[in-house]
Amino acid sequence: MSDRAPLDEAGAAGAGPVRLLVLNGPNLDRLGRREPEIYGHQTLADLERALAAEAATLGAAIVCRQSNHEGDLVGWVGAAEDEGFHAILLNAGALTHTSYSLYDALRGSSLPCVEVHLSNPEAREPFRHQSVIAAACVGKVSGFGVASYALAARGALAVLAKAASD
Ligand code: DQA
Repeated sequence: MSDRAPLDEAGAAGAGPVRLLVLNGPNLDRLGRREPEIYGHQTLADLERALAAEAATLGAAIVCRQSNHEGDLVGWVGAAEDEGFHAILLNAGALTHTSYSLYDALRGSSLPCVEVHLSNPEAREPFRHQSVIAAACVGKVSGFGVASYALAARGALAVLAKAASD
C-alpha cells in the first residue's frame, strides 16, 4: 500500500483547489513492468506526477493511493468525503469486474466517482467486459493509457461544476 500526495495538501478543507482522490487497485503498483504492451512503460509514479501537473493546470489537487487489497479501497472510498475530497477517480484493476463491496462503497458515498482504465477492457477478454462498479460511477474513461486519468479528472471537474451551477 502506498499513499502519496504529489501536490501540497494545504487546501485541504474548505477553500482552495478542488480535491480529487485518485485510487488505483491491484497490480497497478507494477505499472511499467506489468504487460507493458498493454499498459505502457510508465510507472505509477510517472503517471501520478503527470496527472498532478495536469490537475494543477485545471485548478485541482490530487492525492494518489494504491493498494492490492480490496478493503483498503473500500475504506478510502468510504472515508473520502470526511477527508475533504470532492470527487474520486478509481482504477479498481480486476476488482472492477468482481467487487460488489466497492460498488456498495461507491453507492454509499455522496462523492462522484469516475471509473478509469488504461486499457479498453471491452476490447479484451470476456471477463473484462463487465464492470460491476460502473453503475455506481458518473462516467468512465478507458483505453487512452495514462491520458485516461487526465481525461477522467476533466470529467470529474465538469460534473462538479455542473452540480455547483444547478
Ligand atoms: C485495468 C483493466 C482491468 O481489466 C485489469 O484487471 C487491470 C487494469 C486497466 O487499467 O486497463 O488491472 O483496470
